[in-house]
Amino acid sequence: LASTEVDLSAIQPGQAIKTTFRSQPLFVRHLTPKEIAEADKVDASTLRDPQTLEERTVDGKKQWLVTMGVCTHLGCVPLGAGEGENKGEYGGYFCPCHGSSYDTAARIRKGPAPKNLEVPEFAFTSDTAILVG
Ligand code: FES
Repeated sequence: LASTEVDLSAIQPGQAIKTTFRSQPLFVRHLTPKEIAEADKVDASTLRDPQTLEERTVDGKKQWLVTMGVCTHLGCVPLGAGEGENKGEYGGYFCPCHGSSYDTAARIRKGPAPKNLEVPEFAFTSDTAILVG
């Protein structure tokens, strides 16, 4: 199966882009220090799908959140990875199909989705590029 290379150099802090990986939407988000702090202050053990931001990112590169753009409820594409898009009440992604809200670590916080947005396998190929898959 094909891998996808993503250039991170133009993605500003606070910005998320939508691209594709194996024909599915992929979100790449450059978290701000505030968004990282918001994710870190949550006690992960209280979450529906308990994971820390560390567990969802690469060591030392916590500001890069890479997830599938596929809601874990019934597969709609959540909003939040585009200019002016609704990030929902937890500041991450919002799925308009049935109202699932994801936080700044793309963890499910409210609504019917059972799981966090999936983090695909990926690796950094340089400071400003990743290879997904
Ligand atoms: Fe996203 Fe139902 S598909 S909330």
